[in-house]
Amino acid sequence: MGKDFRPKVHFTAPKNWINDPNGMVYLNGEYHLFYQHYPDAANWGPMHWGHAVTRDLIHWEHKPIALYPDELGYIFSGSTVYDKENISGFGKEGKPPLVAVYTNHSLEGEEVQSIAYSTDYEHFEKYYGNPVVVNDEKNDFRDPKVFYNPIMKGYSFVVAGGEEVDFYFSRNLKDWRKTGSFKAGVNGFGGICECPDCFPIETEAGTKWVLIVSIIVPKDKKGKPLAEGGHFMSHVTQYYIGDFDGSTFVDTEKFKEPLMLDFGTDNYAPVTFQNLEEKVTMGWADNWAYANETPSTEFRGKMTLARKVEMVKTTEGLRLRSIPQGIDRYKTSRREIGKDFRLGTDCFGLLLEGKGKARLCNESGEEIIVEIADNEIILDRSNAGLKEFNSVFASEEYSILRARRLDCTNNKTEIIFDTAFIEVFADGGLIPMSASVYPNNPYEKIVIDGDLRAEFYEIC
Ligand code: FRU
Repeated sequence: MGKDFRPKVHFTAPKNWINDPNGMVYLNGEYHLFYQHYPDAANWGPMHWGHAVTRDLIHWEHKPIALYPDELGYIFSGSTVYDKENISGFGKEGKPPLVAVYTNHSLEGEEVQSIAYSTDYEHFEKYYGNPVVVNDEKNDFRDPKVFYNPIMKGYSFVVAGGEEVDFYFSRNLKDWRKTGSFKAGVNGFGGICECPDCFPIETEAGTKWVLIVSIIVPKDKKGKPLAEGGHFMSHVTQYYIGDFDGSTFVDTEKFKEPLMLDFGTDNYAPVTFQNLEEKVTMGWADNWAYANETPSTEFRGKMTLARKVEMVKTTEGLRLRSIPQGIDRYKTSRREIGKDFRLGTDCFGLLLEGKGKARLCNESGEEIIVEIADNEIILDRSNAGLKEFNSVFASEEYSILRARRLDCTNNKTEIIFDTAFIEVFADGGLIPMSASVYPNNPYEKIVIDGDLRAEFYEIC
């Protein structure tokens, strides 16, 4: 087939497989991204931490692999913390260390937490005392995300532990003790948790805490995900809004339905950057349901754009709104387009206002349809390109994505399209929807139907 489908501004590895973003941190004007990486093939395998940096969240510079598998196992997901005060003692010659806290996954499937440190923020030394946390009861025990604990004045990490997330605390980043747990599923999807994140966020009503949890939704006997509320996906990312009492997360809002960080198929394991005032996430822009089989040759897997999350009040209560980052400078060249616009690029943004449909079409008769309807947002990729590579990808549920609107008075929709990936931010960012597509030929025109005003800008 020979098609590459490599996006232009969405992060991909130089070669081969990636999944979750790991250890994201902002340091001295640079954003560091570490990521789950198998450097030897374009499918999941022995996990390493790849590494790249960027100053503008668009152009990335690849760095050497940061962490290789070792005698404790593969290097699974985790986070880093910039230890300014050198409480770990890993600092050298006045340089504070960057401490990585990650999961070692052994060949037998045992999962333990380990640490490594770096003072040039590129080469890591593993701690001789690894693992730093073991858990004899749980098979699934992974993806620690470290954050400052303002109540106990030290660092906590939240880690996935089966169908709950567990909290651990430390004053030196080496000795950790468990302080509490939070069971996902009580007011949200239940299932095996992965890649949690926990952080404070400012709102009109003061500081709240957000707990993000990616979930493997359990399946019924026929293999269909058993999800409530019309959600059908096997892997989703949800969030809770509440408080952090120093030991654990407390769900104060108790929503009736799960809150989704993304309503599309392709944004899994998103977490925030450390050491950054604003809350900025990036996620893996694929889905385990088909990620190992997507049509790629040289590389497989990509990241979403960075997205700032803000908490806003809606008629349904507090919600996170996502705002894509790094693209504002391209918007200065935006111009209004008519109902039928010929494209000369496959990396662009669209700013829509109103209700109706925007379609991206190519000469093979393939199209992506984004519909802003009265009560719902629909992203239809059922005829967008290649899909038979995987039966789940080709299924109707994964092809026609729908989300109930959260703010029907806000008809602003932002779309970013890059080669093989579409990100839609509807209802002013309250409804992000991300989906991969594999068109046989690049889309060459945009067709606007209905009462929609559209502005277009090229990216890169
Ligand atoms: C999530 C995940 C993590 C794990 C990693 C392995 O996508 O399953 O739970 O650490 O990927 O690559």
